[in-house]
Amino acid sequence: MDELSAEIKELSSIGCKYGTDKVPNGFMPHYVRMFSCIREKAKSIVEIGVLDGASIKTWRDYFPNAFIYGIDCYDKKYLDGNRLKTFVADQSERNQLAAVIEEMGNVDIIIDDGGHSMKQQQVSLGFLFPFVKHGGLYVIEDLHTSVIQPEFFNDTSTDNTTERLLRDLANGIRPKSDFMTDEEIDCVLKETKKCSVEITRIASEEEVDQYGPFAVTIGFLEKTEY
Ligand SMILES: C[S@@+](CC[C@H](N)C(=O)[O-])C[C@H]1O[C@@H](n2cnc3c(N)ncnc32)[C@H](O)[C@@H]1O
Repeated sequence: MDELSAEIKELSSIGCKYGTDKVPNGFMPHYVRMFSCIREKAKSIVEIGVLDGASIKTWRDYFPNAFIYGIDCYDKKYLDGNRLKTFVADQSERNQLAAVIEEMGNVDIIIDDGGHSMKQQQVSLGFLFPFVKHGGLYVIEDLHTSVIQPEFFNDTSTDNTTERLLRDLANGIRPKSDFMTDEEIDCVLKETKKCSVEITRIASEEEVDQYGPFAVTIGFLEKTEY
């Protein structure tokens, strides 16, 4: 087995131990490909969306030298300690994110697995991207909420979905957003070295019956290195 395959096996087994849905959703091979080279040197990882702590515990065990921060709209303080710290904040409110950033400072990686609406994803990306260190990453999970259950996730009055925003960025096109300021879009455009949108699995029959056809999708923004 090569080194990367061994690391995918290792991260998947940590994820299974804590029960995060990142394993069945097929995210782990992509995470290892993106995170492996900064695994040792990363000092601070943020995940938006804590739920029962499965993912922040997974990141704590995977990144040996990092502090793991969780942001959730509900209080998750019972998880704090042993390199984990949680904050209560609504990811669609810039002033609440600003208070969190004031405590955390700049970070190596941000993973958005929060509420998954267009406003939540785009406000968080616009506000938090400048605080990702150069050479770091910003990840948005479940980009397929741009196409399923629009009554629940698509709070735009336009077709400026988050998936489209990332696909435009990947193609070198200036993206449009109903929720990001022009300055925020400028920053993301100027400081993204590479943007990629990856399909990680095809919806199951039951999911298709419920939501129509879709593919589970994740987006990565790699920040420029200075
Ligand atoms: C999919 S779960 C997170 C799962 C977790 N990341 C894991 O892999 O184990 C989504 C979480 O996002 C939180 N959430 C929903 N809307 C939010 C918002 N506007 N701001 C911050 N967190 C939010 C929910 O409370 C919930 O805990």
